[in-house]
Amino acid sequence: MGCFTCTGKSDKEPNGKTDINNKYPRNQVKRKKNPEKQPPSEKEKLDPFRCIKQAESKEEVSKDKKSHFDANDLELKDIYKDGKSVGKHAQIFTFNELAAATGNFRADCLLGEGGFGKVYKGNLEKINEVVAIKQLDHKGLQGTKEFVVEVATLSLVDHTNLVKLFGFCAERDQRLLVYEYMPLGSLDTHLHDLPPNRKALDWNTRMKIAAGAARGLEYLHDKLKPPIIYRDLKCSNILLGEGYHPKLSDFGLAKVGPSGDRTHVSTRVMGTYGYCAPDYAMTGQLTFKSDIYSFGVVLLELITGRKAYEPFKGRKEQYLVAWARPMFRDRNQFQLMVDPKLQGQYPVKGLYQALAIAAMCVQEQPNMRPIISDVVTALTYLSSQSYNPGALSSQSSRSSPLRATGKQTEERVSI
Ligand SMILES: Nc1ncnc2c1ncn2[C@@H]1O[C@H](COP(=O)(O)OP(=O)(O)OP(=O)(O)O)[C@@H](O)[C@H]1O
Ligand SMILES: [Mg+2]
Repeated sequence: MGCFTCTGKSDKEPNGKTDINNKYPRNQVKRKKNPEKQPPSEKEKLDPFRCIKQAESKEEVSKDKKSHFDANDLELKDIYKDGKSVGKHAQIFTFNELAAATGNFRADCLLGEGGFGKVYKGNLEKINEVVAIKQLDHKGLQGTKEFVVEVATLSLVDHTNLVKLFGFCAERDQRLLVYEYMPLGSLDTHLHDLPPNRKALDWNTRMKIAAGAARGLEYLHDKLKPPIIYRDLKCSNILLGEGYHPKLSDFGLAKVGPSGDRTHVSTRVMGTYGYCAPDYAMTGQLTFKSDIYSFGVVLLELITGRKAYEPFKGRKEQYLVAWARPMFRDRNQFQLMVDPKLQGQYPVKGLYQALAIAAMCVQEQPNMRPIISDVVTALTYLSSQSYNPGALSSQSSRSSPLRATGKQTEERVSI
């Protein structure tokens, strides 16, 4: 597993994202160092992802020169004409409006902190909404590209399983993102290191979260034109709304997928330990199947309650996938894999089916992993089979949801 062999060789980026394998240069496609600025062609103007692509090349130039540049240069103005959003949700806020919303970024409004900076809960009077405001750490240039990609991507997407971006602030060196507030926080806080007052998620909720997250990914892979590779799928980026409705968040690493006959985009390997597909870690070639691998890891976390990567565990148990792989081969081990916090409250057949889906997603060979629409079909079926501990007979007579998709013919895990 390439991801696993990379241990110890990585650099932590200032923005907290891990450059998993720094021997691969940023974007293997060669770029001119100081390209002459050409006005965009009519075709380019119509490309809704122009500012994402431009953010990448701008970052190259800015990193070379080590100079400051403003996100306003990055053609966000194409999306935000006259300070108003052309897209559905986003608008420009002033720093003062966001400071007022959070009581001047008061400590008791702090929701958490990630690689890019702190996230605060706020009450934004201008739009009469409770919001989550992410204030980017502005110590370095890292993160500006991610800021632009995040704004551009979220301004163009609209799906019930993707977090909404209300707007942003890019005043002087301040970079802030304003999202819808997700009252139940991120999935990882419901799976791992639970505080004593937090109940473990039940089986049905776990399968509903998995199905919803898969639908969000399906939208990015299959419904968007051009499609997007998410590149940062993990439990801390799955946010939960009322009724544990899941939404994917954090699109700063998203990449426009390959076009034409190409099967991959070449990029510096970025990601989070435990979630990164081995093929991507080894080659820097990003494909839709890299996201499928990460999704499989999330599904395994939902089933087992274990973390994707635990540095302090023994070598064989550090990576969830490395721990799970030998167990996939032995049916007798399946029930040993399940999260003890479920206290035996799960359907045996449903467990086997969920494990089968996870096992397929984390296959070493990317072409053996399923496409997202098949994962959605399988998980939609699984999540519709509501588990009721009092009615055990209804749980055992169903055929595999993966067989129902008709496309998974390879032997991957026997159920
Ligand atoms: N829209 C939101 N609503 C409610 N809480 C949020 C929202 N966005 C983020 N948070 C919370 O803020 C915390 C930090 O999130 P953030 O996305 O910055 O970091 P992360 O996902 O933990 O790591 P990374 O930087 O690698 O994505 C998380 O614990 C999350 O629960
Ligand atoms: Mg996040």
